[in-house]
Amino acid sequence: MIQLNGFTKVVGILGWPVEHTLSPVMHGIAFSNLNLNWTYIPLPLPPERVKDAVRSLHTLNFVGANVTVPHKQAIMRYLDEIDPTAQNIGAVNTILLKGGKSYGYNTDGYGILRALLEVGFEPQGARCLMLGAGGASRAAVYSLAAAGASTIAVYNRTVERAAFLVDDLRLAFPHITFSFEALTPETLTAVNHHCDLVVNTTSLGMFPHEETTPWPEDVPLPENAVICDLVYNPLKTKFLQQAETAGLRGVDGVGMLIYQGAEAFRIWTGHEAPAALMRQAVLAELATRQKMMIMHEM
Ligand code: ATR
Repeated sequence: MIQLNGFTKVVGILGWPVEHTLSPVMHGIAFSNLNLNWTYIPLPLPPERVKDAVRSLHTLNFVGANVTVPHKQAIMRYLDEIDPTAQNIGAVNTILLKGGKSYGYNTDGYGILRALLEVGFEPQGARCLMLGAGGASRAAVYSLAAAGASTIAVYNRTVERAAFLVDDLRLAFPHITFSFEALTPETLTAVNHHCDLVVNTTSLGMFPHEETTPWPEDVPLPENAVICDLVYNPLKTKFLQQAETAGLRGVDGVGMLIYQGAEAFRIWTGHEAPAALMRQAVLAELATRQKMMIMHEM
């Protein structure tokens, strides 16, 4: 454990609510491992105070911050510079403060892609199906498009949101075939089986609604597709259980969490993050929380 003192460099996470964040655990272990005199703290920020946040970080000499729900878009107008990836995704999840200026990045898309590459998924030429059209979907769609996917279909409960996402990214990637649909049992039944990747970016399946899934149980999953769920609490979601039953490769949401954090860590510190160690710490923390929940239920 790092002993805080007058030289400690400080980063944190701006969100509302932010009580359940795993990022302090993940970055804490990384700072310790590299013997960096840094610390990472949760920074609860109600929406009406977003306008003051970047100035406050400067005033208090922070090196940077992560930004999470619901501030990833709202924070952008208060930053001096936004990197092109974050601009294209339309959201910032990482801030760096340097030389009196503030810089915005988005490492979510990188995180998703790294997690997929890690299991041997080949994005080049891939046919992708995204479930959901919120912020996480935008980052995933952008990173898959930038990595050379050939087709990307976005299915969302609110179909207008899927249309908006696709229209936006079509301009940035004119060579990719984009499409969108309403997310319903009927449209999923009609998904053809020439699909290499399905990603759940919705909150369906997340604690405390573990019994839910974005994919109806009586609809077969595309043959041979990699099934990725960005939900990591629980680790094995109902959607991933369906993938397992169908004999398909599943990717849980911890990889994305770790790698978006590892990239933020690199932006702040200039060091490669110890990703394997961060994963261990996150898994241990999730297991502890699970155990505490079970004890509360008894
Ligand atoms: P994030 O930044 O995590 O992507 P978000 O921007 O709030 O969060 O997006 C949440 C996504 O989950 C959206 O695609 C949302 O669908 P809508 O656009 O129709 O709201 C989807 N979602 C949330 N709850 C859902 C539910 N019960 N059924 C289907 N989709 C759901």
